[in-house]
Amino acid sequence: MDVTKLADGITKLSASLDGILFEGMWEIPNGVSLNSYIVKGEKTAIIDGFCDWEGVPEKLFELLDKAEVNLEDIKYLVINHMEPDHSGWIKDFKKLNTDFEVVCTKKAANLMKTFFDQEENVRVVQTSDTLDLGNGKVLEFHEVPNVHWPETMMTFEKSTKTAFTCDLFGTYGKTDFDFDDNLTDEDLRYLNDEGLRYYSNVMMTFSQQVKKAVDKFEELGAKTIAPGHGIVWRKDPNKIVQMYRNYIDYALGYGRKEITILWGSMYGRTEEAVREIEKYIIGKNIKVNIHRLPETNWGTMLKSVLSSSGVIIAAPTYEYQMFPPVACALEEIGRKKILKRHALAFGSYGWTSGLQKELDDIMNRYKLNWDFVDTYIFNGKVRKEDIDVIKKRVDALIDKIGI
Ligand SMILES: Cc1cc2nc3c(=O)[nH]c(=O)nc-3n(C[C@H](O)[C@H](O)[C@H](O)COP(=O)(O)O)c2cc1C
Ligand SMILES: [Fe+2]
Ligand SMILES: [Fe+2]
Repeated sequence: MDVTKLADGITKLSASLDGILFEGMWEIPNGVSLNSYIVKGEKTAIIDGFCDWEGVPEKLFELLDKAEVNLEDIKYLVINHMEPDHSGWIKDFKKLNTDFEVVCTKKAANLMKTFFDQEENVRVVQTSDTLDLGNGKVLEFHEVPNVHWPETMMTFEKSTKTAFTCDLFGTYGKTDFDFDDNLTDEDLRYLNDEGLRYYSNVMMTFSQQVKKAVDKFEELGAKTIAPGHGIVWRKDPNKIVQMYRNYIDYALGYGRKEITILWGSMYGRTEEAVREIEKYIIGKNIKVNIHRLPETNWGTMLKSVLSSSGVIIAAPTYEYQMFPPVACALEEIGRKKILKRHALAFGSYGWTSGLQKELDDIMNRYKLNWDFVDTYIFNGKVRKEDIDVIKKRVDALIDKIGI
């Protein structure tokens, strides 16, 4: 629902986005929700907000109207995170209401100047500072830097023990429910999957800091988690906390006991080997995620690599280097700091293979500590003998994963 009461004086406003690339690059096949929260004591605060990808805030204003909140009555703009999906509406809000105060961290205040020329009426807060809205509603602020920008914080409403966590505990994916009250196993699987996709795209690079933020969050003793994306967790907030702990563990350690194959091919020689190997792994009842590049969006590719302990890279040689779409995907994996995986590479070449050299370059550049089975290259067409060797190496990979 677009306007939902969470508790007396606390309302969620929510919009859905789809048909866009999130952050300009991640496909979101199931869309994403953007949430804003109104907390009413004697005074009214809005916690985060939202606008669409072009910065248009009309939907937020429409929902404020529907929730019977007058723009002029909003005294505090609590900005947990300056990323424009949550803050882009401020420039329009300023045209309609001038009597307000922005509440944010010091780093966010600096960004506020550069993004919105907002220098006055900014209240800088730090961890444990509070804001009393009257009527028992007290907001307490907690800095959680680098979740997912340097200026981020979370806001905790003390009387209801509601934590407004913005990007933290967010998930992609639209749902037709607001809360976790009656989740079926299927709902949980969907949310876990959309959470994994979101985490791998948005949060993964900062897993060390996200881990600290989750620890900090657990000290709050929150009863309700109200994130900036996804559903509100109030029946069992620990579910989303545990999901996030799993994602963090996958990012800093290994994934599940499954294998992702990232492959590309120009003329089908590498592809032929990939098809054989895919069948071979499936035949062993091991879950395999297979993504052709460049056809697969990086968001999907990253989600699979995050959840898999094993990665197979299959690419021919192109102009003395690895087939570029596969090399670019590996670069992106490096930037996202997926530090540890068990892996195997193979591919076809014509005269001088460039597969190993570029693989080493990328692994070294990003200091990825991947544990490789020996790479296998084959000249031109793949032969039965080649497949036999690759299968042996796949067995070695499976052993390393411990399946
Ligand atoms: C544009 C282009 C560039 C290539 N560059 C190289 C190269 O630098 N070194 C090499 O050994 N083979 C090179 N090859 C040959 C391919 O690696 C070889 O044909 C391989 O079998 C292609 O595998 P595929 O069928 O999976 O695309 C190149 C092929 C193409 C089309
Ligand atoms: Fe963000
Ligand atoms: Fe966000």
